[in-house]
Amino acid sequence: MKKVIYPGTFDPVTNGHIDIIKRASELFDEVIVTVAKNPSKTCLFSLEERIQMLEESLKDFTRIKIDSFDGLVVDHAKQLGAVGIIRGLRAISDFEYEFQMALMNRKLSDGLTTIFLMPHEKYTYLNSTIIRNLAQFNSDVSDFVPPPVAKKLKEKFNQQ
Ligand code: COA
Repeated sequence: MKKVIYPGTFDPVTNGHIDIIKRASELFDEVIVTVAKNPSKTCLFSLEERIQMLEESLKDFTRIKIDSFDGLVVDHAKQLGAVGIIRGLRAISDFEYEFQMALMNRKLSDGLTTIFLMPHEKYTYLNSTIIRNLAQFNSDVSDFVPPPVAKKLKEKFNQQ
């Protein structure tokens, strides 16, 4: 059974992340979407809210699990018995950071392979910061995030 993890902050999850999760679930037996507590980022949503949005957005998916982690991603992957770490590559600009992280993770844990997947090109310009920004100024984000996330963003910014 080939199990992989897909780590991220998911503040909030976007259709670009969902696209990667779908592709990974077609390749592996189990994909564990793992939410980083990530103290290096100031998040809009709490860890519990980020997990809940993922659960609601992925409720129709099979072979997916959702959890969270604190600390090194390689330690969490090993604990779960994962064979690889899924990362999305949206554009060349992602490459340098991702390459550095993949090599460091390989150095830390040689048996763990980073697998890069490309989301559909319509998602290449998406990130969570842009979504939070649009939602804050009452712009419609429904083309970019799953319905439960659009709803939660409205609630967060007290919009009708
Ligand atoms: N579609 C849309 N947006 C995407 C995306 C996709 N397919 N892939 C990434 N993004 C966005 C994210 O939403 C995020 O947006 P934001 O910065 O505006 O909030 C941005 O691109 C960067 O994403 P990512 O590189 O996935 O960072 P992250 O913060 O989500 O996750 C961790 C980074 C948590 C995986 C990484 O920091 C980590 O592993 N930390 C644990 C500590 C550790 O092990 N450190 C050693 C690593 S060498």
